[in-house]
Amino acid sequence: DKGNHRHFMAKEIYEQPETISHTLSHYVDMGAERVAIREALPFSFAELTRLTMSACGTAYYAGAVAKYWFERYARLPVDIDVASEFRYREPPLAPGGLSLFISQSGETADTLAALRYCAGQGQHVASLVNTLESTIARESGVVFPILCGPEIGVASTKALTAQLTALASLAIAAGRARGALSEEQETELVRELVRLPTAVSQALGTEAQIMDIAKRLSKAKDVLYLGRGPMYPIALEGALKLKEISYIHAEGYAAGELKHGPIALVDEDMPVIVVAPSDELVDKTLSNMQEVAARGGNIILITDKKGAETVGQDVADIILIPEVSSFVAPILATIPVQLLAYHTAVFMGTDVDQPRNLAKSVTVE
Ligand code: F6R
Repeated sequence: DKGNHRHFMAKEIYEQPETISHTLSHYVDMGAERVAIREALPFSFAELTRLTMSACGTAYYAGAVAKYWFERYARLPVDIDVASEFRYREPPLAPGGLSLFISQSGETADTLAALRYCAGQGQHVASLVNTLESTIARESGVVFPILCGPEIGVASTKALTAQLTALASLAIAAGRARGALSEEQETELVRELVRLPTAVSQALGTEAQIMDIAKRLSKAKDVLYLGRGPMYPIALEGALKLKEISYIHAEGYAAGELKHGPIALVDEDMPVIVVAPSDELVDKTLSNMQEVAARGGNIILITDKKGAETVGQDVADIILIPEVSSFVAPILATIPVQLLAYHTAVFMGTDVDQPRNLAKSVTVE
């Protein structure tokens, strides 16, 4: 049932304030303002020497954001790779490490193969899934649920923000166990997570403006997305989502890599979407953005009030999202990239919920 929405994807985008709340209620003790992991852990975060994550597509981007969180808040070394590369690379893994597999369906063939490889290497095997009765869940030592309800649209939306919410909680738990975060820091980060659903509702309010921008995006042949730090995987996600449902060619790039090649593509015909809410790195990303502007590039900036004040009048299209901490900002920045892809596809008249050539669950490699 799509409710009042034209597509399942729109319904699932709009469900996110509730689905994020639901995920949080599993991982966070709201009264105590603490993360409370309910699953029995067959390993101790304090003793881990390494976390290895594998996943495909959008689930991989969730892990790529979480890498920043585990490194920064838990001081835990992290490796992450797409499962189709990881499984054949057969990397050596020291016994006792934790391997975490992220999969909405729990049936993705490459992710499952990566899991089996890690289990054979004496790793603790954990998974983060939406479908608890899936093969990946069954073969895991511990299963973390994302609890966002069934996702029908082929393009993943609410599963990503639920995966990120759960991963952010796990990173806090790991940080506490490893002595990298104090109790006060935990409380502060938990409060930011708890405020997130309201911020997501506000970010959904950018829809009217985004429809306007999407009308223009639908005429583009190529679109470039830029981001830095945890916004880099969000840029990749924006590009993936646009490709898969609007069939417009899009690429995501680390903002700092721009001058190492892709800046050659910049002209007035290629929109450049810059994902840069104010955080520790925003000035660097905005200076990359100015390099695009100086070459006649057409910029669409996703930022908050503070970021917008820095750029002044130089950018015609600024999509304003609420100001939140840099910890939860990647989750919030996901909303406008989803809406941009969705509305561009609607303008193009594509089959948004069932894009050509794609399957919801990729059970063959
Ligand atoms: C993108 C998308 C895919 C999936 C990928 C992994 O919108 O839906 O990239 O994220 O196929 O699927 P799961 O999470 O089921 O392993």
